[in-house]
Amino acid sequence: MPPLSNLATRDVETLVHPYINLATFRDSGPLIIERGQGVTVYDTDGKPYIEGMAGLWCTALGYGNDELVETAAAQMRKLSFAHLFTGKSHDPAIELAEKLKEIAPVPISKVFFCNSGSEANDTQVKLVWYLNNALGRPNKKKIVSRMKAYHGVTLVAASLTGLPGNHRDFDLPLPGFLHAGCPHHYRFAQDGETEEQFATRLAAELDALIVKEGPDTVAAFIAEPVMGAGGVIVPPKTYFEKIAAVCAKHEVFLIDDEVICGFGRLGRMFGCETLGFRPHSLSIAKAMSSAYLPIAGVMIPETMYQALLTESRKIGVFGHGFTYGGHPVSAAVALKAIEIYQRDRIVEHAAARAPQFQARLGALAAHPLVGEARGLGLIGGVELVADKKTKRSFAAQHGVGARAVAFAEAEGLIVRSVIGDVITLCPPLIIAAAEIDALFDRLTRALDRTLDWVTRQNLAQN
Ligand SMILES: Cc1ncc(COP(=O)(O)O)c(C=O)c1O
Repeated sequence: MPPLSNLATRDVETLVHPYINLATFRDSGPLIIERGQGVTVYDTDGKPYIEGMAGLWCTALGYGNDELVETAAAQMRKLSFAHLFTGKSHDPAIELAEKLKEIAPVPISKVFFCNSGSEANDTQVKLVWYLNNALGRPNKKKIVSRMKAYHGVTLVAASLTGLPGNHRDFDLPLPGFLHAGCPHHYRFAQDGETEEQFATRLAAELDALIVKEGPDTVAAFIAEPVMGAGGVIVPPKTYFEKIAAVCAKHEVFLIDDEVICGFGRLGRMFGCETLGFRPHSLSIAKAMSSAYLPIAGVMIPETMYQALLTESRKIGVFGHGFTYGGHPVSAAVALKAIEIYQRDRIVEHAAARAPQFQARLGALAAHPLVGEARGLGLIGGVELVADKKTKRSFAAQHGVGARAVAFAEAEGLIVRSVIGDVITLCPPLIIAAAEIDALFDRLTRALDRTLDWVTRQNLAQN
């Protein structure tokens, strides 16, 4: 391991980083990014990388967008902060809420603003609990999520998340949070089961779970249209129509976590439009502001708003809100970002680039290390396996995914590895055709280097 630079040493001695083995990180140190333009970021040595993850699935309009920068500066000069508590308001929040209602994929009554996807999902759960109290159903409170789902890290959001690393030794999930089966055909379908049959079985299992728990105790089901951090899992055909029917049958509220898929990722403005389902409420964040500033929200239907009114009449106050929820600078930037999506036809551009992206992604399935290459729109996952025939994964301690990420960085490409050695791809939506080719050329070279390393280390053995 080469010695750490001065800045890297200062990092290791001062920061706690999310999602890293903090012990080994002390030796490896960080990759320090200094600036960005378009789909490219540069490290402190000036080395360029294609940002194949749009940061954390979020910088949809790429780096250095002057319009967003100017919007933020202008709003900061005009009114740097105002809040929405106790009856105060400001233009940017009002205009953004109006715009979101206009583009919503289902009828939306109101928007509640917060700062992160986790806060949005925590809010969803609190609102569903409130709703059922307002409706006189005080026992209908359990929330069903899915194995491998990612919904964030605050206590409730982490309970919704279905990944072991987010639960273990954090004493999570909290009681009342259940996890249904993961809709990943490659891993969890039975021998010979078609996608449709697999979807039918998952819906039947959800139905059985709700019946076992008691339908009068289950309040909501939450799902990402395409699972992101769980390994870019595209559900099997007919999944959402079947799941939505089960939810409807048991009066279970359907929450759509659009934190990654919202704002064009899957080729439509919202992921549920691409996947063909109609949720009750939606969580939005990330690309809403192209991540220039933090902002998130819950899109609330009229039935739920009526419940909030009922509770307000009863209690006297809606006791929920975040200091920076709907921050005027973030709201102004989000409004401008949505204007750009619409004016520059960014969603259509993403849809037009998707066939090339998916073709290059799909071609990786032929690589000796790749068990499955999957995706939709401009998102993709490449699952590395020790044995293609049996789908056997590498032992986690070999860190094969992490090694592939390091080789990709050496090749000038930033990607991420999530649990199960899945390399994830989620480039800015503005990516050009030549940049998609460069991304996959670099990733292919990184996979070749990983294969070389795996072979030399003899890691494919049991
Ligand atoms: C689908 C989904 N929901 C929620 C979250 C949590 O968002 P945040 O990290 O802003 O709390 C994420 C973050 O990646 C996500 O991918």
